[in-house]
Amino acid sequence: MNHAGMLLRGKKRSRPVEASARCQEEVKFKEVMVYLVEKKMGRSRRNFLTSLARSKGFRVDDVLSDEVTHVVAEDNQAGGLWSWLREQGLRDISKVQVLDISWFTESMREGRPVTVESRHHIQETLAETVCSTPAAVDNVSQYACQRRTTTENHNKMFTDALEVLAESSEFNENEGRCLAFRRAASVLKSLPSAVRSLGATQGLPCLGEHTEAVIEEILQFGRCFKVEEIQCDERYQALKLFTSVFGVGPKTAEKWYRRGLRSFKEILNEPAIQLNKMQRAGFLYYRDISKTVSKAEAQALRCIIEETVHWIMPDAILALTGGFRRGKEYGHDVDFLVTTPELGREEGLLLHVIDRLQDQGILLYCEHQGTTFDATKLPSCNFEAMDHFEKCFLIVRLYEDQVEGGLQRNPGDSRAWRAIRVDLVVPPVDRYATALLGWTGSRQFVRDLRRFARKERRMLFDNHALYDKTKKMFLSTTTEEDIFVHLGLEYVEPWQRNA
Ligand code: UTP
Ligand code: MN
Repeated sequence: MNHAGMLLRGKKRSRPVEASARCQEEVKFKEVMVYLVEKKMGRSRRNFLTSLARSKGFRVDDVLSDEVTHVVAEDNQAGGLWSWLREQGLRDISKVQVLDISWFTESMREGRPVTVESRHHIQETLAETVCSTPAAVDNVSQYACQRRTTTENHNKMFTDALEVLAESSEFNENEGRCLAFRRAASVLKSLPSAVRSLGATQGLPCLGEHTEAVIEEILQFGRCFKVEEIQCDERYQALKLFTSVFGVGPKTAEKWYRRGLRSFKEILNEPAIQLNKMQRAGFLYYRDISKTVSKAEAQALRCIIEETVHWIMPDAILALTGGFRRGKEYGHDVDFLVTTPELGREEGLLLHVIDRLQDQGILLYCEHQGTTFDATKLPSCNFEAMDHFEKCFLIVRLYEDQVEGGLQRNPGDSRAWRAIRVDLVVPPVDRYATALLGWTGSRQFVRDLRRFARKERRMLFDNHALYDKTKKMFLSTTTEEDIFVHLGLEYVEPWQRNA
């Protein structure tokens, strides 16, 4: 180890014990990593079983990663468990034990992982084996909330191109076109296989003539000239670069561009430009926070946040949301929801959490926004606006030894930590389900849930509530499942919401 490394290590050890992010319970069975399937089991039971297992020294993964050795499902024999498993993109599914809850219950009773017997195994049903070949594409809904979109995108070639077109339309303030391209990309993402001919897109919703032309060009030439033209455009390049800075939106980016600025150096050397606090942090930590966050890094942060929140309030409820809840391998930040079992006890909690992170010396940036939530102002028709819950936008320092497998590094980088963007949102518990659904996203999925609610059900849905305009009443929503039921939609699992 080099000298700098030793110095950093020494410093790291002197941090208070609670600050280190090792999860609370002691791991007794290193060779076992359990994953509990939420389907049929339900979220609250899954949470309960997770805590139980962890308290007995079992490792339980919240996401189905390649580390998982034992997948445990409840009453899933005919429930499409295997088809679902195959869609998860595991490196080698044959290495995973797929087990009935009885294995789990017996293991809990014994206080150790019991030997797997054949009666514990969940067998793949014949129907599932037969159905695992891609189905013909028909009846694709125009609403993303009626499609199942995993992280596996078979049409990346097309959706990447459409994403550039959407972004460029956004920079040109052409919202209609931007949305049209995003909707088209979202439909293509949901398809079970790659589009190989224009004919294959027949009957698909949301594919306008521009999109068809893009698909046709890519099918024929392997590239789209309009997209390449945009990518070479000076204005597009500058706006893309500027908006990649935390705290810089399209408006500010445009302002800088109009001043003739083209690079970060020019911006930072321009005396007339006053950066706000967020933008200063954005530039200061640019190298770190413009890099993606891995699942392992997100998991390490979850431990840190969990430990901090529970140190203050042991029964507070914490949920990982955003892209990582949808099973994404990489994200641009890590999003969490925090609430309390009893209404009102969440008041002041977030400020405590912030203080505590500060005390641990890992808070690099913090913008706190107090709640502006007012139940008497509901329902709101203001769809795309930010929600009113108390929240904070953070930049947190994450150390090498807190991450399984280590940090993702830039070549030649020997620093023992990296900076990561973290969002914490605190809805009151009676708003938890709507907030969870909203913050789990994806943006397109939630946008279409709202559109579906409004157009098909005469209901208003946002992060705060679900309102029935016909009955003129709010509908009670304790879980995400409740919301789908009220909307008359089939439940879509978080990992199927990558629209
Ligand atoms: P993110 O922007 O973090 O997206 O917002 P993401 O899906 O996690 O993707 P990456 O991996 O970080 O890039 C998470 C969700 O939170 C919602 C967004 O709609 C998105 O679905 N959100 C964001 C809100 O509901 N309200 C907000 O004020 C901001
Ligand atoms: Mn996110």
